[in-house]
Parts: sequence; C-alpha cells; structure tokens
Amino acid sequence: MTPATPELPAAPATDRPVVELTGVSKAYQDVVALRGADLVIRRGELLAIVGPSGSGKSTMLNIMGTLDRPSAGRVRIDGHDVADLTDRELSALRAETIGFVFQQFHLAFGVPALDSVADGLLYSGRPRGERRRLAERALRRVGLGHRLYHEPHQLSGGEKQRVAIARAVLGDPPLLLADEPTGALDSRSGAVVIELLHELHEAGTTVVVITHDRDIAATLPREVRLKDGRIEHDSVAADGSASFPASRSALVARDALAPQEAVQ
Ligand SMILES: Nc1ncnc2c1ncn2[C@@H]1O[C@H](COP(=O)(O)OP(=O)(O)OP(=O)(O)O)[C@@H](O)[C@H]1O
Ligand SMILES: [Mg+2]
Repeated sequence: MTPATPELPAAPATDRPVVELTGVSKAYQDVVALRGADLVIRRGELLAIVGPSGSGKSTMLNIMGTLDRPSAGRVRIDGHDVADLTDRELSALRAETIGFVFQQFHLAFGVPALDSVADGLLYSGRPRGERRRLAERALRRVGLGHRLYHEPHQLSGGEKQRVAIARAVLGDPPLLLADEPTGALDSRSGAVVIELLHELHEAGTTVVVITHDRDIAATLPREVRLKDGRIEHDSVAADGSASFPASRSALVARDALAPQEAVQ
C-alpha cells in the first residue's frame, strides 16, 4: 500500500537544525503574540520554554509545529522553509517529523489505550495488525504494557499523558513538542512524565517542552525565556555554549516510577 502523504522535496544538508526561526512574529488582529523570535534548535537538544501566561509560548510552539503560520519571518523545520510548502506537503512534514503532547491529553472517550495509540498511524498506509503491534511496543516503552485495554476513564492522569506520549512518538518523529505536559498532573505523575521525556531525549529525540514549573525547567539543559512575545533570555548562546550548567535534580529520580511501571 502507498503512504497517504506525498513525497517531500529534498531538504539541504544533513547536519541541519531541526528548528530554525528567523525574525518570526505572529499577530492576531491587534494582539502581537510573538515579536521577532530568532531561535535555532539542533538535533538532539532538550529545552524548556518558560515565561508568564500570555507571553507567547504556545504561539511559538504552534509555529514550530507548523500548526500555525507566522505573520512575518522565516520558519525552517528539518531544513524545509515552511513558506515553500503546500498545505499537503506541510501535513506530510508534520506527520513524518513532529510529535505533539498537550496539557489536556486529547484521548477519545471510550477508546482503549492500544487503539488510541494505533490510530496515530491510521493514515500511514500500514496494515491494522502492524499498527497495533507498534502501538503495543510504544505503550510498553512508556511503562504501560499492563494497561493496553484500559479506556481513558480507567487511567490516572499520568497514565493518560503517557498514552498521549506513546501516540506522539509512535512513528519515531525526530522532534517532540510538549505544551505544559505536566500542567494537569500532580507532582509525582509530572516527574514520571518528565523522566520519560528525558529518556526519549537520551534515545535521540529532540524535545521542546513548555513549562510553568521552574524546578522542571531547571532539570533541562537549555532554557528559553519569553516575555511579552520576545525571547528575553536563552541559556545557550548562538555559538552553542551554555550560560549555566545543566542540573538533573532529584525531581526526576527514577524511584518516582513504581517497579512494575519501569520504562523499558
Ligand atoms: N487565536 C488567537 N486570537 C487572538 N489572540 C490570541 C490567540 N492565540 C493567542 N492569543 C494571544 O496571544 C498572546 C500569547 O498567547 P499564548 O497562548 O502564546 O501564551 P502562553 O505563553 O502560551 O500563555 P499560557 O502560559 O497562559 O498558556 C496572549 O495574549 C493571547 O491572548
Ligand atoms: Mg500556552
């Protein structure tokens, strides 16, 4: 069976940044949500985007995720200038390159975890059996091998978020974008989710996470701070040097995971 998505035009060079924003602004009528953002995210990075409510964090993430187009400036994702792509090509780029995780898990009512995750590959052209096999593997990867047939109302908040993460990483996208993934969770479940993001990062995924939680941000190697739609601070300078050392605190200690839930 042929994939439902069209071939993307070849992008230049292999060591290209995963995300490159140049002078990116976004206006909604009279609200300027993002003002001239310049940001380069390289393959294999793990970074926090922080800032007060309304400072433009979700706007920036949605633009990186090609869910929204900028009002001005240039957006390159995995080497592709999104302005050059048709909507169809943009959907293909998104499907192949980007996984999303949101604060509200977005799991359909009454759908077992295995199907919720497998449905992420519905338009991939893969047969149902293979979709379910990959979904089971992804659920085991997030420590939910014992909850394959549970529906959302039978799962805890942290488990729901792990189902959402399994769905997001099912196709092994190089870039994972998470908007307040722990915002609806208690601190213990939040720590498990953050630990999982660390593990995905260690396995090679580039991870961008919006968080209000200063302790979580402090565990990530890079912090980009927004204020009034501007990048106010970036702990990694343009030459790649860090202005403060990364600290992975006790917040994400492995003992936050129950033994039977240990991530495989
Ligand atoms: N679709 C829209 N139409 C009009 N204004 C919008 C729209 N989306 C966002 N805004 C405005 O743009 C600004 C930035 O919003 P954004 O959602 O990016 O903030 P945020 O930093 O993610 O905030 P929070 O931490 O509360 O999620 C806000 O002032 C918001 O009201
Ligand atoms: Mg937001």
